[in-house]
Amino acid sequence: MADTQGLLQARFGIDMPGADVPDAVAPLVDRRVTRRYTEQDVPDALLNGLLAAAQSAPAKSDLQQFSVVVMRDKPRIKQVADWIGTMDWIATAPVFLVWCGDMRRGQRLCQMHGMKHANNNLDTLLNTAVDCSLAMGQFIAAAELIGLGTCPISYVRNHIERVSPLLGLPDGVYPVAGLAVGWPVFRRPVSMRLPPSVVVHRERYDDSTLADAVGAYDERRRARDPIAPGSLKNNDVYPPREGVGWSENAARQLSVPERFGFGAYLRTKGFDLA
Ligand SMILES: Cc1cc2nc3c(=O)[nH]c(=O)nc-3n(C[C@H](O)[C@H](O)[C@H](O)COP(=O)(O)O)c2cc1C
Repeated sequence: MADTQGLLQARFGIDMPGADVPDAVAPLVDRRVTRRYTEQDVPDALLNGLLAAAQSAPAKSDLQQFSVVVMRDKPRIKQVADWIGTMDWIATAPVFLVWCGDMRRGQRLCQMHGMKHANNNLDTLLNTAVDCSLAMGQFIAAAELIGLGTCPISYVRNHIERVSPLLGLPDGVYPVAGLAVGWPVFRRPVSMRLPPSVVVHRERYDDSTLADAVGAYDERRRARDPIAPGSLKNNDVYPPREGVGWSENAARQLSVPERFGFGAYLRTKGFDLA
């Protein structure tokens, strides 16, 4: 039997007597990111099985609008790690997957049937990103179930002009995230999440208690895992100091534009984003 309250304490830092975690679901609640991998390989047959699980995720209108590029060549994985610069452990992963939204396949299907693709728009960007994210999520869950570790890497989009040609991504195909995959050297502690009262709304959206709930969450996280001043977001913009909580650190990140050239890039790749 899963230790439901132990799992939920680790995940949320609060008692949750009204929640029950079935045994089969326990590994999902216990999931954590992995940022260091052993040299042990991930056999092709196993990887293919996990990719089959990923392709089994739901897909909007059954259109299946994502692609994934499997990287196993060490120098090429290291090249991506070097471009990113601050995540050297990526190069320790035996497998690096690049999950892509894919509008091109639909365009080709239209072409094959003598029709014009009339959806190079924002809705398709969202649909492709959602299909891709669901597949990546299902891959992550499947990988964790058999003891593999993973880490999504949105930073591939910080170097999209270099990553896209490296992978030969054509117009209509864009990276959503990389995913380092390998056997964990160690398991990190569980990362504490916002209380469900903030995220789960009953019948109607209601964030009237947000400030108080987030204040208490900041305190719980600070007590368990304080943020070192050197690890704070955007230290070059805001002076680093002790005692900064999760919410202030999030605000430090969200108040500075990130990847603001992404829309312009997508327009060069065939999305009109209308
Ligand atoms: C879309 C996405 C992109 C991410 N990009 C990065 C990244 O570029 N580098 C990194 O180290 N972690 C990245 N992460 C991992 C998160 O930092 C991590 O999931 C978060 O800190 C919570 O930790 P946990 O997964 O252990 O619960 C990403 C996660 C997601 C879902």
